[in-house]
Amino acid sequence: MRAVVTIGNGGYDKLKYCVVPLPTCGPGEVLLQVLSAGVNNTDINTRVGWYSSSIITDTESAVVSQEQKATAKADGGWNETTPFPFIQGTDCCGRIVAVAPGGDETTIGMRVLVRSCMRKSGFETMENIWMGSDFDGAFAQYVKAPAGEVFAVDCDWSDAELGSIPCAYGTAENMVHRAKVCEGEHVLVTGASGGVGSAVLQLVKRRNAAVTAIAGRAKMEQVLSIGADRILDRSEDVVAILGENAVDVVVDNVAGPAFGGLLKVLKRGGRYVSSGAIGGPLVTLDMRTFYLKDLTLVGCTAWDEPVFPNLISYIERGELRPLVAKTFPLDRIADAQQEFLEKKHFGKFVLIPLPLDE
Ligand SMILES: NC(=O)c1ccc[n+]([C@@H]2O[C@H](COP(=O)([O-])OP(=O)(O)OC[C@H]3O[C@@H](n4cnc5c(N)ncnc54)[C@H](OP(=O)(O)O)[C@@H]3O)[C@@H](O)[C@H]2O)c1
Repeated sequence: MRAVVTIGNGGYDKLKYCVVPLPTCGPGEVLLQVLSAGVNNTDINTRVGWYSSSIITDTESAVVSQEQKATAKADGGWNETTPFPFIQGTDCCGRIVAVAPGGDETTIGMRVLVRSCMRKSGFETMENIWMGSDFDGAFAQYVKAPAGEVFAVDCDWSDAELGSIPCAYGTAENMVHRAKVCEGEHVLVTGASGGVGSAVLQLVKRRNAAVTAIAGRAKMEQVLSIGADRILDRSEDVVAILGENAVDVVVDNVAGPAFGGLLKVLKRGGRYVSSGAIGGPLVTLDMRTFYLKDLTLVGCTAWDEPVFPNLISYIERGELRPLVAKTFPLDRIADAQQEFLEKKHFGKFVLIPLPLDE
């Protein structure tokens, strides 16, 4: 099959489009034909080794420096060491084409999404591994996955629309779930024009809570169009505009210099939840704000058990809107990632593998 193999930490030259052996299903696994695979920051972060503690800048700066200096990083992956060479791709919309002996053959032909965050030791521990980060993912014509991590979806969305969902919406729903966002609450969402932020916005609204969104000026209208109650320009001073003690929950995957202000606008007893730091991983935390206001800081990566099945049900009930900005053939992954990093788009980029007969 054809696949994009990432051969190590570094620039776009580490992405090799080549022919590799077809995966073989082990016990309990299914083989999927990949129909579409979303582009996510984690693919880029893992390639450049951004998760390493030696990198202290935002993603964009890290990418620029890694183009010039490709250094292997033992702790550069999500779960520390990345198993290079391997196939990335955390989002997979696929069709089941084979099942391991003893598996359910009636599932062959089903269109499915893969739950990319897998809790192999069960949901009682936070141990988790990710398809496309810890083992081969969907930047290929085929991928294998455990049958229990594969969810049929009954909807009229296109393959590209479904392929935009798992990583961004799974992560977003996990944060909204963990933060226990309730009807009538006021939630502040940063990076609301992005993949995770736009998903958080929709998922908070479906819980009947109010959203104040933060986005770059060029994308403010689009963020309003997907349901934000109020929009702020990211260059504005959030504390000056909202005032202190204004919101119940902050969902923040940007972090960086704005972090301190986000805690100030939280009410007493408020919850701050995050699963990313695209604006910079190192922040200044004023401990007095944290403890004097009885705040809760919630870190999120391992998806809780109800999150992905719930997400599938929201799609099937028409409660979410897919937001696909553009599709690219899989062999143009470097073009897709370069344009993705420019952050001029709204919605997700999705890669489409070559049809099998080519
Ligand atoms: N832990 C997990 O499981 C997990 C899963 C998915 C994503 N993540 C992380 O979450 C973060 C967001 O992911 P995403 O998929 O939503 O990313 P995205 O689609 O690139 O969106 C990020 C948004 O943040 C805004 N932004 C504000 N300051 C920025 C800065 N300094 N640099 C770049 N963008 C900035 C941009 O919007 P404006 O230009 O409109 O401000 C951009 O649209 C990433 O760090 C990603 O790695 C983590």
